[in-house]
Amino acid sequence: MKVGILLSGGGTNAQALIDACASGDVPADIAVVISNRRKAGGLDRARAAGIPAVHIGHRQFDTREQFDQALTDCLREHSVDWVACAGFMRLLTPVFLDAWTGRVLNIHPALLPAFPGVDGQAQAHAYGVRIAGCTVHFVDAGTDTGAIIAQGAVPVLPTDDRDALQERILAVEHRLYPMVLKMAVEGRLRQDGRHVQVDLRDREALLLM
Ligand code: GAR
Repeated sequence: MKVGILLSGGGTNAQALIDACASGDVPADIAVVISNRRKAGGLDRARAAGIPAVHIGHRQFDTREQFDQALTDCLREHSVDWVACAGFMRLLTPVFLDAWTGRVLNIHPALLPAFPGVDGQAQAHAYGVRIAGCTVHFVDAGTDTGAIIAQGAVPVLPTDDRDALQERILAVEHRLYPMVLKMAVEGRLRQDGRHVQVDLRDREALLLM
């Protein structure tokens, strides 16, 4: 199985996926990493791992649909089976989603459906919740509204600022996302409306804490 990663930033989640594939924990190859930002650290991580790193700037297209078609073309050139969004800060249109139905995953740094959109960690911190976390879900045309596959929960400590909370959430993101990608590429996820049925193996769980 070949996986394409979409990202916009530093790429620590992409690194976790790259490492899990390289070690054989996830039986897949990362075939390409694409970023809409030329300077995204995630592109450097891909290059360092010998993975094709492609910049496709969204501003060079007149419409979202044209950008999404360019993403699809690039993923197809690399014979991708699954798409993993890892800090990819663009909404995907039906042009993209119809080409990859049921094969696009995303990780979001909040316990959805709470705090969708930008900076879920800051939203959770500002709201004053006692439990925060992250969610891996299928991507649909909404903002972080797709069917939930797995979640990771962390405490929010009274001494936390937004950055401390982000760091605690990121640590669980790096465990959760490779685990879900493994389930995906092994054909063990089945979406049934809002529910995702998972054929669980040893020591896997759909809620990490
Ligand atoms: C991660 O926390 C990820 O959950 C979040 O961006 C960060 C990327 O970090 N994604 C979103 O907010 C998507 N709505 P990384 O570049 O170090 O993986």
